[in-house]
Order: sequence, then structure tokens, then C-alpha cells
Amino acid sequence: MALYSEKVMDHFRNPRNVGVIEDANGIGEVGNAKCGDIMKMYLKIEDGIVQDVKFETFGCGSAIASSSMATELIKGKPLSEVKTLTNKAVAEALDGLPDYKMHCSVLAEEAIQSALEDYQRRLQEDAKA
Ligand code: FES
Repeated sequence: MALYSEKVMDHFRNPRNVGVIEDANGIGEVGNAKCGDIMKMYLKIEDGIVQDVKFETFGCGSAIASSSMATELIKGKPLSEVKTLTNKAVAEALDGLPDYKMHCSVLAEEAIQSALEDYQRRLQEDAKA
């Protein structure tokens, strides 16, 4: 069996939603200290829905494929669904990752959660202003 599924290779070669959202209202950046990979997620949330999402990943192929798939999974989705996205769901949507590459999908989950926290923080600040 090939080490990587066709979906992993597809999302690695043609990653979806790469880039920056200038007026993002939720930005999360996470890294993995062991491998040194970094992932940044930009969310544009309106009316409780992820209207747009983009990412920048400086990392391995699995991290790029995981970010790409994660953005596809949350685009257009309500926050209640986005909050419960797990790295397992990302890996499953990619038809699996090798065990030693599962941490790459964890980075995608963490980047999204971090962007959601940033969104909540901004909401609270706006409420105070
Ligand atoms: Fe670290 Fe893939 S090797 S994110």
C-alpha cells in the first residue's frame, strides 16, 4: 500500500484555500516544537458561519494536506460544527495518515481552535469598547 492516500497527495499538490484573508476576524497560529512546522489559519466569520478560510503552512506535505482538507471541512459551516472538528476527522477525510504523521493533522485542529479563540477574544473586546 502506498504510504500516502491519493487524497493526501492531491491536497498536498493542489492545496485549497492557501493565502491570507486581510480582514479576517479570527487568526490562529500554532507550531510543533519537535518538527518545527508552523500553521496559520485565517477565518472570516459572519452570522455564526465561517464565510471564508485561508491558511499558510510552513511544513511537511501532511501538514499542508491536513490544512487544506481542514479548510474544506469548515468552509461555510456554523461555528458549533467548526468547534468540534477533530484531527481524526481531518485525517479520515484524507483517507488516513501514517501513524507518525498524525501530529500533522493535530496542527490543523489546533490552528482552527486557536483562530476561534482569537475570534471570541475580539468579540469580547468589541463588547467592552
Ligand atoms: Fe510536523 Fe508534519 S512533520 S507537521
